[in-house]
Amino acid sequence: MPETILMEKEGRVAILTINRPDKMNALNQQVRDEMLQVLAEIEKDDSVGAVVITGAGEKSFIAGADIGEFAGRTPFDQREAMASPRIFDIMAAFPKPVIAMINGFCLGGGCELALSCDMRIASEKARFGQPEINLGIIPGGGGTQRLPRLVGLGHAMRLILTGDMIPAAEAKEIGLVEMVVPAEELRAKTLELAGKIASKSPLTVKVAKEAVRASERLAIEDGIPYERDLFCLCFSTQDKEEGVKAFLEKRPAQWTGR
Ligand code: COA
Repeated sequence: MPETILMEKEGRVAILTINRPDKMNALNQQVRDEMLQVLAEIEKDDSVGAVVITGAGEKSFIAGADIGEFAGRTPFDQREAMASPRIFDIMAAFPKPVIAMINGFCLGGGCELALSCDMRIASEKARFGQPEINLGIIPGGGGTQRLPRLVGLGHAMRLILTGDMIPAAEAKEIGLVEMVVPAEELRAKTLELAGKIASKSPLTVKVAKEAVRASERLAIEDGIPYERDLFCLCFSTQDKEEGVKAFLEKRPAQWTGR
């Protein structure tokens, strides 16, 4: 049983809570290992249609990598700690959508984890930053690559080179989060979004995520034919037959994920 990750189910949504509130939910090796273990189980579980990631307590989503683990490490130690599979890449490519429910400090590796999610919803109290520069290091969980893709080069440079924290409203303004809500509404609004996605055909959701993710790595002239192939692949599913039939019969579709 994982000690640092709490898991609950609400309908078809799995909520994973990183549970180290006394350490601001900093990501240590145990959290990373247990997160991989929990995600592997969720991947196989057909009763889960969407995943929500959050942090325990009122103050912090995730305040970054556990800085205590960096002291005295050699480059070889660090390379071993950063060996694949890494939670950031696993979440970005996860076959079910992953939503970050950002309840407080979202810093360093925590911000990078949020960047690896498919969507981000923040409480008005959340604060964001890539403070690695203040430790003499740079983001190492994909931040230098994923942040500029989301917010543009200039905002990414500002956050990464200054290490400054920004409030939720500003994170929304620059496109770092999609939605900001009052703290007391965060869970309900996140579950509303996750529940809606989890009510669609899981097969179609998986293909849609794969197609959108492909836009991160493909040039447009390769992405468009890739999308066409995935679109045509949908024509092999029972859910496509059902979706079209249900529309024509003016009734809600009954998805089977086949
Ligand atoms: N790694 C390890 N421990 C961390 C941590 C991290 N990234 N972030 C917070 N903690 C620990 C603190 O050391 C403290 O532990 P202690 O009570 O045993 O001393 C506890 O969490 C509470 O943090 P504290 O600093 O007292 O709370 P605060 O409200 O004054 O400040 C932060 C909160 C998040 C602003 C501050 O903790 C911070 O700057 N953390 C580091 C963020 C960072 O640089 N992340 C990038 C890492 S690469």
